[in-house]
Order: sequence, then structure tokens, then C-alpha cells
Amino acid sequence: MTGTVAGTATLLEHLDEGLAAVEGAMLDVTDSQVEVLRDASRHILGAGGKRIRPRLMLLAYMALGGSDLNYVAGPAAAVELMHTASVVHDDINDHGIMRRGRPSVNATWGRTFALLTGDFLFTAVYELMASYGALNIDLAQAATALVEGETLQATAVKSNDFSREVYMRVIALKTAALFRAAGAIGAKLADAEASEVEALSEFGFNLGLAFQIIDDILDLVADEKSLGKTSGIDVDQGRGVAVALGAENGHGGAPSADPVDAIMRKLLEGDTIHKAREQASLLISRAIDSLDVLEASPAKQALVELAHEVVNRDR
Ligand code: IPE
Ligand code: IPE
Ligand code: MG
Ligand code: MG
Repeated sequence: MTGTVAGTATLLEHLDEGLAAVEGAMLDVTDSQVEVLRDASRHILGAGGKRIRPRLMLLAYMALGGSDLNYVAGPAAAVELMHTASVVHDDINDHGIMRRGRPSVNATWGRTFALLTGDFLFTAVYELMASYGALNIDLAQAATALVEGETLQATAVKSNDFSREVYMRVIALKTAALFRAAGAIGAKLADAEASEVEALSEFGFNLGLAFQIIDDILDLVADEKSLGKTSGIDVDQGRGVAVALGAENGHGGAPSADPVDAIMRKLLEGDTIHKAREQASLLISRAIDSLDVLEASPAKQALVELAHEVVNRDR
């Protein structure tokens, strides 16, 4: 028992060191001579964020016996920068004026500079990943998937075809692919066997699906202040988990068919949110099950806790 507690304490210390190295790597690589790029990058990175993707990568690495956290810090920073770039661009598309508890880059610097800052954060990933060979493939595939997911979502909204099926495809691409890459890269950096890489990939993927479902629920029910970002926009834009499930139940669906307020009321009164939560919990159980092939360790335990955190979070 004492051994486990001490092991957990050591793990958490290592994790904190690893995350500090990730912060350092992100700041180094975004230190542009061009003021607006540097300032806007500092603004969005300095606002914090949950850092769940780098945490997933570091823990995957440690759960498979890896111990050189400086080695993982570069790829973990790359994953977080790619995610940060995507939210900077996402706020342009979604008219998000708040992000991570601060005015969004878009709201502060305007659309042109938000677009360029997002580009800058994306391109910084090349430098971070330059010496990581084939791992670039995992990240490149996730980057492509992310853009495909956002595009598919916009297409489905436009053609008023946001079914449950489309929804699952969208979130697999726009969110879960990057989580999957984080798990896979962490495992590969630890020289894991193919079955272990597959386990961490599956863990990341299902965690990512659940993560986006909960994000969509929070968009409906959480208040903007505690969420730290513009909320209540999914139904307005005819998308999100509630629209997908609502369409299935004969309500929700096209925002143009019904005033947004009325749709919101129906969703909150009905069992849509409850159903979505159940779906997220199921995915989390699936994620945790895929860790069965790993030996018990404090890092494995921390991955399980991370998974629970994803469904229980309120921001
Ligand atoms: C927000 O991601 C975008 C989604 C994929 C839902 P996070 O909730 O991880 O955002 P930060 O990094 O903590 O701000
Ligand atoms: C996630 O979707 C977007 C990305 C993958 C960039 P959302 O549009 O729901 O993300 P938030 O809620 O604005 O963070
Ligand atoms: Mg958004
Ligand atoms: Mg959202």
C-alpha cells in the first residue's frame, strides 16, 4: 500500500516535470520575431487549458516503461500546439469570443491575425517533430483528420443533415484522431510492442470520442464563466450531440424548423442529455478495458483516472 502511494507520488512529480518541459518547448518554438505572432501565441498558450492531450501522451509513455520525459516533451508539445492551433481557427469559424477564460485570439486581434496565428502554431509542429521520423505520420494523419472532421461538420450543418451517424464520424475525425495519435505516439516512444501500441491507440480514440460528447453536453448546460469559452452555440448552429440525438427522436434537428429556444427547452426537458452521458460512459469503459494488456503501474492507474476525469469534468 505504502509502496503504491509512494509510487503514485513519484509518478505525479515526474508528470509535472514532463508537463513543465512541454510548456517550455511550446514557448521556445513559438518565440517569433514577429510581434503579433509571438504575443497572440503567448496569449492563448499562457491562458492554460487542461493539457489533456500531452498528459495522455506522457502517461502512455510512462505506462509502457518510458522514463526520459525530455524525449517525449517535443511530441507532447507538438500535439498540444496542433490542438491549440485548431481552437484558434475554430473560434474564427464558430465566432467564439472567449477561450480559456480570456478573449479569443479572434476577438483580440481580429480574423486575419487569428488565421495567421493558427497557421503559425500549426507550422511550429514541423520543427518540434523534425527528429522523430515515422512518428510524424501519426501526427500528420491526425492533422488531416481534424481538418476533415471540421469540414464534414460544416458540410452537414449546411445541408441540414446532422444525423447520429454523421455526428459520430465528425467527432472521430475532428477530436478522437488526435487523442488516438497522442496515445499511439506515447506508446511508440517507449518502444512498446504492437499490441500495446494498439491498446493505447484505442484508449486514446475512445477517450477522444467521450471527450467531445461531454464537450457538447457542456456547451448546452455549463455556464460560460466556468467553461471559460463561448458556449450555447452548437444547437444554434445545428450541430453537436443534442442535435444528432434530437434529430433521431424527432425533435432538435434543423434549427430553422423551430426557434432555438424551443429546441433547447425540449432537449433539456427530455432525456437527450442523459442518453449522451450514457454513451460517453460506455466509451470510457471501453477505453479503460483496452488497458487490460498493460501491467499494473501508477501510470496505468493515472490513465484510468484521466478517463474518469473526462466524463466527470465541468470545464
Ligand atoms: C476543446 O478542447 C476543443 C475540443 C476538442 C472539444 P479542450 O477542452 O481540451 O480545450 P483546452 O485545451 O482545455 O482549452
Ligand atoms: C471541437 O469542436 C473543435 C476542434 C476539434 C477544433 P467545438 O467547436 O465543440 O470546440 P469548442 O467547444 O469550441 O472548444
Ligand atoms: Mg467551437
Ligand atoms: Mg464545443
